[in-house]
Amino acid sequence: MNRKVKTNRDLRKIYNGAFSVGEKQHFTKLVLNKKKIPSEDGEVLKQISWRGKRVLDVGCGTGLFAYEAAKRGARVVGVDYSEVAIREATATYTHPHLEYRIENIQKTARKYKRMFDVVVSLGTLEHLDNPMEKLSLFSSFLKSGGEIIITTPNWVNPRGFVLQTMLQLFDAPITLADLHYFSPRVFEKWAKKRHLKLSWRTFDVSWGTGAVMIADFKRRLPNVLRDMNIKNDAGIQSFIAWLETEALTFPWKGKHVGATGLYHFRK
Ligand SMILES: C[S@@+](CC[C@H](N)C(=O)[O-])C[C@H]1O[C@@H](n2cnc3c(N)ncnc32)[C@H](O)[C@@H]1O
Repeated sequence: MNRKVKTNRDLRKIYNGAFSVGEKQHFTKLVLNKKKIPSEDGEVLKQISWRGKRVLDVGCGTGLFAYEAAKRGARVVGVDYSEVAIREATATYTHPHLEYRIENIQKTARKYKRMFDVVVSLGTLEHLDNPMEKLSLFSSFLKSGGEIIITTPNWVNPRGFVLQTMLQLFDAPITLADLHYFSPRVFEKWAKKRHLKLSWRTFDVSWGTGAVMIADFKRRLPNVLRDMNIKNDAGIQSFIAWLETEALTFPWKGKHVGATGLYHFRK
């Protein structure tokens, strides 16, 4: 956790460090899913047919998603500003229709104009400066009839309400690298303004409301309080026990309950 992180530029070092020691220790989605393909990648892969599509993966990390899309018949360019991630991707996930580039998307202007059928970006938009401007940039990369598919944490659920309370009232360092905290409403508004069609859903429901949320809090809350120089082990324990009794038995329902949002924009 690093409370001084304010811009995307500050994050690059954190990413390189995290990828150097192995991302499993840092990025929750990989810790959560014991299956080979993490839920985020799996949900996006089943969203469309990839065959014959020209795809840009923004913030491709160590390349699993880009590789899986290439395996399904897409021609993929994966870009990431972490040279450590791209080194790992190049060593791990290669395919004749897959190319990686070390590139800072904050600095990429119009060079990809109208080149892609699909721009995907998994778990990255919340780490960029001016994210809605970046979405507009992604939209300029699309050929006519193209589509953007992104995933980003959804904070409108019990997990989000707890962590947002800590962040907004006490400036608690609730995540390692998030600069923005999105809700579906933000993307609905943006799509309407841009005259794009949007469909969205959330997944990772247990992370937003259930047993995985509890496991996440057991790991996360002691770290957050430690970084705030607060010692309250008994408080954390009783809060988690209360959540186990009340939140785990409450029948959470609705479109928002998942901890991860998937947003699919079409021109
Ligand atoms: C949480 S990771 C997600 C990685 C990958 N998409 C996945 O789902 O496993 C966010 C990624 O975005 C990359 N990233 C952040 N800011 C970037 C920028 N300005 N340009 C390119 N990549 C960036 C990071 O290096 C990191 O690999």
